[in-house]
Amino acid sequence: MNQKYRKAVIAGNWKMNKLPSEVRSYIKQLRELLPPKRSLDVVICASYVNLSNLCKALPDAKILPGAQDVSAHDNGAYTGEVSVEMLADLGLRYCIVGHSERREYHNESDKEVNIKVKKLLDAGIIPIICVGESLEQREADITKEQLAYQIKAALSELNDREVRRCVIAYEPIWAIGTGKTASAETAGEMCKFIRTCIRNSFDARTARSVSILYGGSMNAKNSKDLLEQEDIDGGLIGGASLVLEDFVKIIESAIEVSNEKK
Ligand code: PGA
Repeated sequence: MNQKYRKAVIAGNWKMNKLPSEVRSYIKQLRELLPPKRSLDVVICASYVNLSNLCKALPDAKILPGAQDVSAHDNGAYTGEVSVEMLADLGLRYCIVGHSERREYHNESDKEVNIKVKKLLDAGIIPIICVGESLEQREADITKEQLAYQIKAALSELNDREVRRCVIAYEPIWAIGTGKTASAETAGEMCKFIRTCIRNSFDARTARSVSILYGGSMNAKNSKDLLEQEDIDGGLIGGASLVLEDFVKIIESAIEVSNEKK
């Protein structure tokens, strides 16, 4: 983490977990457990049906509400879709885009990811753009090509200022929900590579301003090692964010690393 240039973000991705009736008590307890002084964004990304309760449960900016996806269309006859305008109207601050589970199960394309990123930025919502390689791509030694391609496509037609408002999440697909984490060094190296890709397409200031998160079996035990890497500015946390105590420990480890670096 390097908070001199960019903010740290710890984001929980609840995926298709938690019931609307469970949201309030989780948030209430999380607020009570969170250390009072923090210099990082704590975000909860919940499913659509939970967003209204999530926003109601967050009367101040201690914890920021996020969605897990958004429609690439503005409005109209798209049954089942949720628009950027709807998310903005609810007060959403973050939205995950291009998660590998959506790329795989819902055929989300790089083009759609780019459209969603642009619409979110226009509405003042921060996109958390997920990129990452499959096990086959890692074994074929084409991880960097894959990351470079996904980054270029997701940030296509954006200007430097817009890119600075984005958050990127490096999520190796083989590490998601499997308990297999990338080693801190590998994760750090890939996040550094992503920053280099941004520097090559935009400018040095933009590259050092973008927060890059690691996601993939981050937990209370491995978070400190991962967050100590210079180019890892936080985490996108699935399974461990469902267990309140574990999520709080991850937040605490981010605060510890940030204090050590001061
Ligand atoms: P995981 O999920 O922490 O359960 O591996 C991370 C994610 O998919 O965002």
